[in-house]
Amino acid sequence: MRLSDCHNIEDFRRLAKARLPWPVFDYIDGAADDEITKARNTAAFDSVDLVPDVLAGVADIDTSCTIMGRKSALPLMLSPTALQRAFHRDGERAVAKAAEKFGVWFGISSLATHSIEEVAALTSGPKLFQLYVHKDKGLNASMIERCQASRFDALALTVDTIVSGKRERCLRSGFTTPPRFSASSLWSYATRPYWTLNYVFSPKFRLPNLDGHVQEGTGKAVSIQDYFNTMLDTGMDWDTAAKIRQDWGGTFCLKGVMSAADARRAVEIGADAIMISNHGGRQLDGSRSPFDQLSEIVDAVGGEIEIICDGGVRRGTHVLKSLCTGATAASGGRLYLYALAAAGQEGVERALVILRDEIERGMRLMGVTSVEQLTRERLRWR
Ligand code: FNR
Ligand code: LAC
Repeated sequence: MRLSDCHNIEDFRRLAKARLPWPVFDYIDGAADDEITKARNTAAFDSVDLVPDVLAGVADIDTSCTIMGRKSALPLMLSPTALQRAFHRDGERAVAKAAEKFGVWFGISSLATHSIEEVAALTSGPKLFQLYVHKDKGLNASMIERCQASRFDALALTVDTIVSGKRERCLRSGFTTPPRFSASSLWSYATRPYWTLNYVFSPKFRLPNLDGHVQEGTGKAVSIQDYFNTMLDTGMDWDTAAKIRQDWGGTFCLKGVMSAADARRAVEIGADAIMISNHGGRQLDGSRSPFDQLSEIVDAVGGEIEIICDGGVRRGTHVLKSLCTGATAASGGRLYLYALAAAGQEGVERALVILRDEIERGMRLMGVTSVEQLTRERLRWR
C-alpha cells in the first residue's frame, strides 16, 4: 500500500499501521478502557441524516469561515496532539506547513516536539497552543509567556485530563516518551525500518516547551499515563482557568468541555471558544460523544461563545453535520495523525486535499454555497 492508494482517513490509518512499530501505532490509535467512546465519537454522526436541497446553483461555493478571529479556508481545525516526532521525523513542522498551505488552524501541545518559538517562526497561519496545567507553576507561567512573545493566536486550556485515562494498549506495549525499544516490542521496531531508521537518525527526541523545568518525557523515559498522574495539577478548578485566561490576555479556548453547565461557566469566565471534546475517547470511556452533546450545548450557549465539535471526524460530511447542528467548526487529531505517521507533510497534505474535496462536494450536493447556509433545518435525527 502506498500514499497514492489512500482515498479516505481509514486508508491512512491502514498505511500508518503497516509502517509504524505497533507500540507507536497503538499510542495514536488507542483510547481508554473498552474504547467505546472512541468508536461512538465517529458512529454518532450516523444517527443523523442530511436533507439536501437541489437546483441551488452551486457553481461557485465558499468553504471559508472565521474561527476565533481568524479566517479559515475550511470549517475544520487540526487539534493539538503530543509527541509528533515520535510518529514522523518532521513532527509538528510537517503539520504546521501543511496547515499553512491549506489555510486552516492547527495546534501544538504542551508536549510538542518542536518549540513554541520554532513553530511560530515556521508559519504565519492561525495556530493555537494547548496548555496542560502542571504542578510546577513556573512552567505554566513560562509556557504562557513564551506563547505571548511568539504571538500565538489562541491558547487552549485542556480540562479533560485531570488524571490520565486508562489506556490499555499502552499498558501492554510499554510505550514511553521518549520511545524506548523494550524487549517485548523489539521485533516490531526491527520489522519497521522506515520508522526505526528515521527515528534513530533524527536529532535527539525532546519536549522543548518543558525545557528548564521538567526532565520527564525528555531525559527520563515515562509513560504518558505516569506523566499525567505525577506532573499535572489535579487541583485545577474554575479559578485556575479564570486566572490563566487573565494571565494570557489573548484569545482563549477551553478544550474538553462536555456539559451545558460547564459551557455556561466558560462563557462566564470570558472564554472565546470551547472545544466539546472527550480527548478522542482517551480519557473517560463511556463519556458521551461530542456530536451527540453538541445540540444541547448550542441550545445553551450558542451565539455567546464559539463552539468547536472535536473528535470522531473522519469525513467531510461529519464536518457538515457539525455545522448544521450549530458548531462554528469541527476539529480532529487522528484525521491528520495517521497521515503524518504514514507520510509526513505530504501525507497531511493529501489528507487535507481529501477532506477539502469531501467538504466541497458535500456542500454542492447539499445545495449550499456558503457555510452559514448549513442550518438545523437540513438535518433529521433518526
Ligand atoms: C491527542 N489529544 C491531545 N489533546 C490535548 O489537549 N493535548 C495533547 O497533547 C493531546 N495529545 C494527543 C495525542 C494523540 C496521539 C491523540 C490521538 C490525541 C486529543 C486531540 O487534541 C483531540 O481532542 C482528539 O484527537 C480528537 O479525537 P479524534 O479526532 O482523534 O477522533
Ligand atoms: C494524549 C495526550 C498527550 O492523549 O494528551 O496522549
